[in-house]
Amino acid sequence: MQSITITTPDDFHLHVRDGELMRLVVPHTARRFARAIIMPNLVPPIVSTELARQYRERILAAVPSDASFEPLMTLYLTEQTPAAEIAVAKASGYVHAVKWYPVGATTNSHHGVQNIEKCFEVLEAMQQHDLPLLVHPETTDPAVDTFDREAVFIDRVLAPVIERFPNLRVVLEHVTTHQGVQFVQAASSRVAATITAHHCLLNRVALFEGGLRPHHYCLPILKREEHRVAVMEAATSGHPRFFLGTDSAPHARTAKEAACGCAGIYTAHAAIELYAEVFDRAGTLDKLEAFASLNGAKFYGLPRNTTPIVLERKAWNVPESFSFGKDAIVPFRAGCQVGFQLVDGSEFERLA
Ligand code: DOR
Ligand code: ZN
Repeated sequence: MQSITITTPDDFHLHVRDGELMRLVVPHTARRFARAIIMPNLVPPIVSTELARQYRERILAAVPSDASFEPLMTLYLTEQTPAAEIAVAKASGYVHAVKWYPVGATTNSHHGVQNIEKCFEVLEAMQQHDLPLLVHPETTDPAVDTFDREAVFIDRVLAPVIERFPNLRVVLEHVTTHQGVQFVQAASSRVAATITAHHCLLNRVALFEGGLRPHHYCLPILKREEHRVAVMEAATSGHPRFFLGTDSAPHARTAKEAACGCAGIYTAHAAIELYAEVFDRAGTLDKLEAFASLNGAKFYGLPRNTTPIVLERKAWNVPESFSFGKDAIVPFRAGCQVGFQLVDGSEFERLA
């Protein structure tokens, strides 16, 4: 098969930041995806429907005029979030979920949740209004090894919350372990997970290949090979509760190549192409559309996209970097190849 046509996909987990950086990264996503769930971990965070409305306007202003792209906004859960905000968020039509960051778990999570019991009224309102909870599922207990943080969080914190709110829709974001995969498979139809391309393509060896590799550092951190295989198999299995979420997370080169480097891998420049590689390697390219374009929309109760995209099996070279003011962004596969190419509008008719 030299080319594959699928319904235009959606990215159910994306960081676009703000300001100048946003103008560089939004076009990459808007070229490939019809919609994206936008993470709210800005400084300061997006804690209200009004802040989400303003942020949405700024994102739309960064969408190229020839692209059509819908940002799906989220709120950042804090211990101060008023339960009444949930009805406002739901009624807005543009807020689609609330994100739970355990304090200290990742980039800009210091306003997050220390004790989830303090948010139970909010979760109750979310359950009532059917607004999904998106979870960064990692404990921050310093006694727990970095590589075990997902499994421990699921056991100790998340499972009891899901039991207490059985009708709440919950997405385990960027699932990275076989425990996470098994948890979702065994859970009710109201529990799903997003999967990144990088957690399907890399294991933790990629962090140390020939030296320390800051551009492979992300959170949750890359795991052992057995976990990569479990996550890749879940993505490519056709299971309806696993769907695409890139977690593309741009940071300036100087912030990554530093004594205390930021977590985040930038994949927006080649996102759907990288997933095509994952499915191709698994021999299940026929299941890419469900994972990338159908499962997530169904879980979120969104209509299916109506336009197609075409991916061609044709390698291309990823630039060493994208210039970003005086700084740069080093993308995933910088200076190397990606095996699939998105076919442009002009080329489209030849293949469609
Ligand atoms: O690697 C990550 N980067 N993981 C996250 O959870 C956050 C993200 C970011 O915002 O940079
Ligand atoms: Zn993220």
